[in-house]
Amino acid sequence: MLVSATEMLKKAVAGKYAVGQFNINNLEWTKAILQTAQENNSPVILGVSEGAGKYMCGFKTVSAMVKAMIEELNITVPVALHLDHGTYDGCMKCIEAGFSSVMFDGSHFPIEENKAKTTELVNICHSKGISIEAEVGAIGGEEDGVIGSGEIADPNECKTIADLGVDFLAAGIGNIHGKYPENWKGLDFDALAAIKTLIGDLPLVLHGGTGIPADMIKKAISLGVAKINVNTECQLYFQAATRKYIEEGKDLQGKGFDPRKLLAPGFEAIKEIVKEKMELFGSINKA
Ligand code: 13P
Repeated sequence: MLVSATEMLKKAVAGKYAVGQFNINNLEWTKAILQTAQENNSPVILGVSEGAGKYMCGFKTVSAMVKAMIEELNITVPVALHLDHGTYDGCMKCIEAGFSSVMFDGSHFPIEENKAKTTELVNICHSKGISIEAEVGAIGGEEDGVIGSGEIADPNECKTIADLGVDFLAAGIGNIHGKYPENWKGLDFDALAAIKTLIGDLPLVLHGGTGIPADMIKKAISLGVAKINVNTECQLYFQAATRKYIEEGKDLQGKGFDPRKLLAPGFEAIKEIVKEKMELFGSINKA
């Protein structure tokens, strides 16, 4: 069932668990995540970056694929189709293409501009029953081989953006996308607690879910994080399983070259890591 992410995240805050956002790249990724959610009776958010949207032939293609898959696979758990780190134009395109949720990443704009653009998008989204995420404090990560450390969001800026009516808020607390460097200092729980005090029950989003230790994930959830984004870890699992298949020479045996066989181990690996994350986040049987 395709729904906005608003209700599922409100329930997550109340129940002290988090819903995973897993980024999709193709049909196999989408099918693996949807099936895992259904098998575990868990709500789920499918994340689509602008780059992945382009790769999959545009947001309309993605939206049509996800909707058809929900129907054909009899997916009855709540599923949100969400634009990840959207530009203003990207949000508009996804709204038109039938996404049920968008993220407007205005974190690089001066606060006044971020506010103006966010307000405009909040109004459009809410008139159509679409949920909207905003970001305060840029989430760092690897860009051109340089690993930037994550910013710590200013709690007052979080409150300002929260008051614009967004449905959930990504706040930087030292988290970054991709693998964490050896010398990573960990999440800043004092900052998280200060943000939570000001924004109350608004669901918080933790980006850069890959590689955050389980105890930190649990503590973040206890402090109001209700949505956790995971991308790189699914890619690493897919890659490792595919590499193993080829290194074992299985692609050379019989019809091992058939893409349905070649991609099967990676598909199963995605299902395994998504289930593991759903267990850690506490979203199993919360559909
Ligand atoms: P990772 O790739 O580090 O898991 O981060 C995913 C993410 O935050 C997508 O917005």
